[in-house]
Amino acid sequence: MHDLADLPVPVWRDDLEAEYAALAARLEPLVPCLEIPLHLPWIDAINKLKKQRGAVIMAHSYQSPEIFHGVADVTGDSLGLAQAARDCDAGLIVVCGVHFMAESAKILAPDKTVLIPDLEAGCSLASSITAADVRALKARHPGVPVVSYANTSAAVKAESDAICTSANAVQVVEAMGTPKVIFLPDEFLGRYVAGQTDVELVLWHGRCEVHERFTAQQARHAREQFDARLVAHPECPPEVLAEADFVGSTTAMGKWLARKQPARVALITECSMADNLRAQFPRTQFIRPCNLCPHMQRITLQNIYAALRDLRHAIEIPADTIAGARRALDRMLAVGRCEAA
Ligand code: 13P
Ligand code: SF4
Repeated sequence: MHDLADLPVPVWRDDLEAEYAALAARLEPLVPCLEIPLHLPWIDAINKLKKQRGAVIMAHSYQSPEIFHGVADVTGDSLGLAQAARDCDAGLIVVCGVHFMAESAKILAPDKTVLIPDLEAGCSLASSITAADVRALKARHPGVPVVSYANTSAAVKAESDAICTSANAVQVVEAMGTPKVIFLPDEFLGRYVAGQTDVELVLWHGRCEVHERFTAQQARHAREQFDARLVAHPECPPEVLAEADFVGSTTAMGKWLARKQPARVALITECSMADNLRAQFPRTQFIRPCNLCPHMQRITLQNIYAALRDLRHAIEIPADTIAGARRALDRMLAVGRCEAA
């Protein structure tokens, strides 16, 4: 392979129009049409480089449409991406999502190279709690198991008994088999889970900076003005969830839409998700109360290309942290996905 660092910047070629006609048609309703010719040279270059490198690109549902539809081999919620990383054959995985998702991939595939295109793609939930905070909580509640949301650092995972995502939080909490569980760090998800189980939860005060901004008034407005069904992510405040017709993970929202095929829906979650689902459900009208995750938006076609070209930024985690976090993640993977999610 020639020196990839010397690869020229991708530019428009006329043959891209025919080669990517189907993709352009899928993107047309989702992104401003002037942008499509700007994206295609990068999409083409990434897809070629990906083949040369033998890499797999995994993209979370909140990635922008040109990434989600243009270059991803695997798409899904954070549970789906973790399962895919565990089962992946490729030696190189590029995670288009936030840092904790790339860490989970590395923990589950420690012999593979896992890249994240921008190391600064963080998460307000993951940064709300440290491993020292978890140790202090355990000291305050001796013998009470810790279930941590996937949106945590590898070090926090290593201090936990099990991990969950929004696709299996209630099931993982109940699988601990104890009357009380420390559940962290998302307070709103914790309050939602507490409403679905008899297990007593000790909660932390973490919040998703994107979902906490939604209000019950916005939800009611979408229902009353647009006659829309309401689908919300459980990281939203409780008064928003109380308005929703369905609450679930990003993947569960897509499954609900496939089952119900509503004429109009408001997705109360990060708004790239609505863009990506619009391609799948052309007969449903999406009302978009738009909050974008600034961390997810850090991932671009340009930095994915640079990640593949320069093999940056590789996730490194100390072996003992991997071992502890792996135990906790394996307990979640043994529970799997809740039926409805
Ligand atoms: P999912 O587990 O539903 O993919 O959500 C992850 C996330 O970060 C939501 O804000
Ligand atoms: Fe974290 Fe919220 Fe962004 Fe999800 S949407 S990655 S929880 S900040």
